[in-house]
Amino acid sequence: MRLRQCLSQLKPYIAGKGYTEITRKYKVPLKDIIKLGSNENPYGPSPQVARALKTISVERYPESEELLSALSSYIGFPEENIVIGAGMDGVMETLTRLFLENGDKSLIPIPTFSYYEILTILNGAKPIFAERVLDFEIPKTIPNDVKMVFICSPNNPTGNATPEDVVRQLTETTEAIVFLDEAYVEFAEKSLANLVEKYDNFIVGRTMSKAFGLAGLRLGYAVVPEWIAEQYRRAAPPFFGITCASVAAGIAALRDLEYMRLSVSKICSERERLWKAMRCSPSQANFLYVETIEPSDIVAEKLLRQGIIIRDCRSFLGSGDHHIRVTIGTTEQNNRFLQAYQKLCV
Ligand SMILES: Cc1ncc(COP(=O)(O)O)c(C=O)c1O
Repeated sequence: MRLRQCLSQLKPYIAGKGYTEITRKYKVPLKDIIKLGSNENPYGPSPQVARALKTISVERYPESEELLSALSSYIGFPEENIVIGAGMDGVMETLTRLFLENGDKSLIPIPTFSYYEILTILNGAKPIFAERVLDFEIPKTIPNDVKMVFICSPNNPTGNATPEDVVRQLTETTEAIVFLDEAYVEFAEKSLANLVEKYDNFIVGRTMSKAFGLAGLRLGYAVVPEWIAEQYRRAAPPFFGITCASVAAGIAALRDLEYMRLSVSKICSERERLWKAMRCSPSQANFLYVETIEPSDIVAEKLLRQGIIIRDCRSFLGSGDHHIRVTIGTTEQNNRFLQAYQKLCV
């Protein structure tokens, strides 16, 4: 056997469906497809991003200094505490390499983003799953032998945020590294990034993919204690996996916070409207987690035939087979989804 043994435990990561797959399979014209399955921002990035992309020199390797300084102003932490990567996925890949190895364990409250499990296994470690219980809250204690804990807040796919006192208590009572995934925090009431100052086992992951509308360019970052940043720079790939395009776009987007905040506020007000109409769990992210009467794969399939892509949550461990996740789109997209969904429910 040439392959590493851990690969036999892995299934490929399941992403939300894309335009090409749906036009090919269901013959729905591209213009009629609405994509509410990947938690992208329907308003896209600031118009400054397109301008910035015209100025890049693709024959040069990327330089990260200006990006780090823009991130530092945005997040309110010194550059020494910020690490970057190809999406938050890339950042997590390097971070898990720092802490997890053969025989280690990670704790993953489920249902949640599945890449934590994949990275744990790829590093030879073992994921321990803890069911989120009442209101999808995480367990309050961590087994002693756990090396890394993944808390997603707001959580994908359930949409709930973990309260500060729970995160604090957990971090204070464990030796493990607590990784708080704040991919959706711009849509939430508050960020807990400031806790990085207090705890040397606490990391906050962030992304430019969601509120900033740059999913296609793959740019993420994390706020980490300085000792972790130093080790990160040893284990990261050359140029941290960033590109001239992602750097230019990231800087431009961070210089136009007004645009990002406006799109977030439109998404949040649509979220409240859709939530009332759907009578589902509350959400602090740019999506809703909806319990379905019919099995979720059937609901997803019926919507796909009409060109509406949502996420069937069966691929989230611990989510069962009666939940879908719907990204908040534009008013027009949400109306189309709502009409189609309500018709399915009668
Ligand atoms: C909870 C969560 N964390 C991280 C990511 C990865 O984000 P990025 O696009 O920055 O790799 C996603 C992407 O959907 C996500 O849902």
